[in-house]
Amino acid sequence: MELTIRRIRPCDIEALVELQNENFTQPWSEHHFQDLLHKDYCHYLVALVGEQVVGFAGFADICMEGNIDNVVVAKEYRRQGIAKRLLVELMAHGADFGVSIFTLEVRVSNQAAIALYESLGFVSEGIRPGFYDKPKEDAMIMWLR
Ligand SMILES: CC(C)(COP(=O)(O)OP(=O)(O)OC[C@H]1O[C@@H](n2cnc3c(N)ncnc32)[C@H](O)[C@@H]1OP(=O)(O)O)[C@@H](O)C(=O)NCCC(=O)NCCS
Repeated sequence: MELTIRRIRPCDIEALVELQNENFTQPWSEHHFQDLLHKDYCHYLVALVGEQVVGFAGFADICMEGNIDNVVVAKEYRRQGIAKRLLVELMAHGADFGVSIFTLEVRVSNQAAIALYESLGFVSEGIRPGFYDKPKEDAMIMWLR
């Protein structure tokens, strides 16, 4: 499988909205994606197999800390190392911008994502009670320092 990872482009947005709708109960809208393309503190990468968008992840640079969000891989492409590669490239990209500390929130029940983040060295540093809606759930706050 030939995987390409590159920065998000306007032509990716339609597929990304579909990926969001399939995987999140509070998906980002097309407008949200359009907006982040113009924010220089937002760094988002897509993973492609051929022309097909199969993964997405990014971070917002908040005072030199990368706030990672929206990590997702299409169901039929999971457990092939795509999310891990996306995050490794995302963090290397962050280093180019002086960002070497990263944080994220994850649903406490999301064992797949927690295992992914732990495999990259993230550790839990606390719980944000009731952080998520649809369904209501606590968030685990993870950091990589
Ligand atoms: C979480 C998610 C992004 C993982 O994507 P992926 O491409 O399948 O992950 P990878 O193949 O890179 O997995 C890397 C490591 O993470 C862990 N992992 C990933 N999925 C796992 C699962 N279902 N169960 C247990 N561990 C898992 C494993 O350690 C895995 O390494 P291994 O396959 O060698 O055992 C994907 O399941 C997804 O899109 N889920 C829905 C959206 C979501 O919950 N996003 C996270 C929001 S915080």
